[in-house]
Amino acid sequence: MSKRKQSSHLLSLSNHKNHQDINIMDQSDQVVVLMVPFPAQGHLNQLLQLSCLISSHGLPVYYVGFAIHNRQAKTRANGLNASDVAKIHFHDIPTSPFDSPPPNPNSSNKFPEQLHPAWEATLNLRKPIGCYIEEISKKARRVIVVHDPMMAVVVQDVNTIPNAESYTFNCLSAFSKIPFLWRALGKQVPIEHLKELPSFTDGFPDKVLDLVALQSEPSSYRAGDLYNTCRLIEAPYLDLLEKEEIIGNRKSWAIGPILPAKLSLERQHKCLEWLDKHEPKSVIYVSFGTTTSLSDEEIKELALGLEQSKVKFLWVLRDADKGDVFDGKVRRAELPEGFEERVEGVGMVVRDWAPQPEILAHSSTGGFMSHCGWNSCIESITMGVPMAAWPMHSDQPSNTILITEILKMGLIVSECTQRRELVKASTIQNVVERLMVSEEGDEIRKRAEKLAATVRQATQEGGASRLELDSFIAHITR
Ligand SMILES: *[C@@H]1O[C@H](CO)[C@@H](O)[C@H](O)[C@H]1NC(C)=O
Ligand SMILES: *[C@@H]1O[C@H](CO)[C@@H](O)[C@H](O)[C@H]1NC(C)=O
Repeated sequence: MSKRKQSSHLLSLSNHKNHQDINIMDQSDQVVVLMVPFPAQGHLNQLLQLSCLISSHGLPVYYVGFAIHNRQAKTRANGLNASDVAKIHFHDIPTSPFDSPPPNPNSSNKFPEQLHPAWEATLNLRKPIGCYIEEISKKARRVIVVHDPMMAVVVQDVNTIPNAESYTFNCLSAFSKIPFLWRALGKQVPIEHLKELPSFTDGFPDKVLDLVALQSEPSSYRAGDLYNTCRLIEAPYLDLLEKEEIIGNRKSWAIGPILPAKLSLERQHKCLEWLDKHEPKSVIYVSFGTTTSLSDEEIKELALGLEQSKVKFLWVLRDADKGDVFDGKVRRAELPEGFEERVEGVGMVVRDWAPQPEILAHSSTGGFMSHCGWNSCIESITMGVPMAAWPMHSDQPSNTILITEILKMGLIVSECTQRRELVKASTIQNVVERLMVSEEGDEIRKRAEKLAATVRQATQEGGASRLELDSFIAHITR
């Protein structure tokens, strides 16, 4: 890797007026790892999981971001052992003010445009984070910065620090990255299957595309790439991403799934007690993550579809996040009149934060209706839960193809198309019945369970992902 040495720039960082009083332990014989997440829940979460994983190898790990987003990551940590999280050093940077408008549940484009001001505010992190890395670098043998690809512009000054290097951590499937990267090179995607596939940036508003474009040049300073995926499920796509025209002479490691092998069940939630009462694999879990808001009409159809299927369900009904998730004003989505009374004993509706990995790991859970964000997909793959895919935006349509057509562990509820039509209760009912109470569904469930066993094995001693993690740790501590 070539380093541009810009001592004048280093000086300007040191003299930056926001320079904080930093108390950093002297760890001059140590390799120190700094995580720089992108402030969207699925990304904050995966970088926190990775922090715990790396910390378990005995390295000091710092998790760096705006105070409000560090707090979000900690408050919503699911399945992680609290004493593991306590070992992470959270470095809170004073939050820049940003607008935090509510999501628009009626918008035909499901992209969470309301998060843009929070994302744009991250550009203010360049100086304080650059400064912090520089301070740490003086007291460590080497600083390893692991960042979201969307934070490349923020961590670019790593390039000016002799004993620091950066790696991206991809919170996306390898499959979903390919069309984007190949089209950026002006080339045809070299896999027949992927030729027609949309890029994950299709449907992004222009101002978000601008943020993506800003990452392009600084992204070239990275020393390597980490993926929260497993070579046993995505080998052909990882091979493509490792072609020289994409990765140059950098290294890459597929270390997923990074969810802890043993989930911590310290935090009990009433929905887990509810699940305890039901038969094995009898409940469909319904949740569309933190970036989807359904309109009143969509909620009504979904409610009726679930009710008519007579399948047991656990439905997490929440609006998409705002930039500031602690700003309490949220819309309370209305359910059809009398719905909750009618489905009592059959269905549960949860409106607060739900422990998703624990729900998916519960023996009563037999299916997952999901928007197919990568965080949800990798959790479902790991827990062996077949999916009813209802992609909304970004990489979700690609993940849907991976889940349903390639891994064959799910069915499609509705495609993500430009001209979005209301998904009818009868469609939902049909997919739920096929997934939960049919021979077809049983076959899909068996495949999902087999895949889960394979993927989980991969993270155990000597498994494919574990060997790559060991190789990454050996590389950064060389
Ligand atoms: C969405 O549409 C419903 C009517 O279908 C309306 O009552 C509501 O105010 C709208 N919400 C927003 C945020 O525009
Ligand atoms: C959490 O980690 C601690 C220390 O490693 C361990 O003693 C404890 O048993 C773990 N708790 C759970 C619930 O796994």
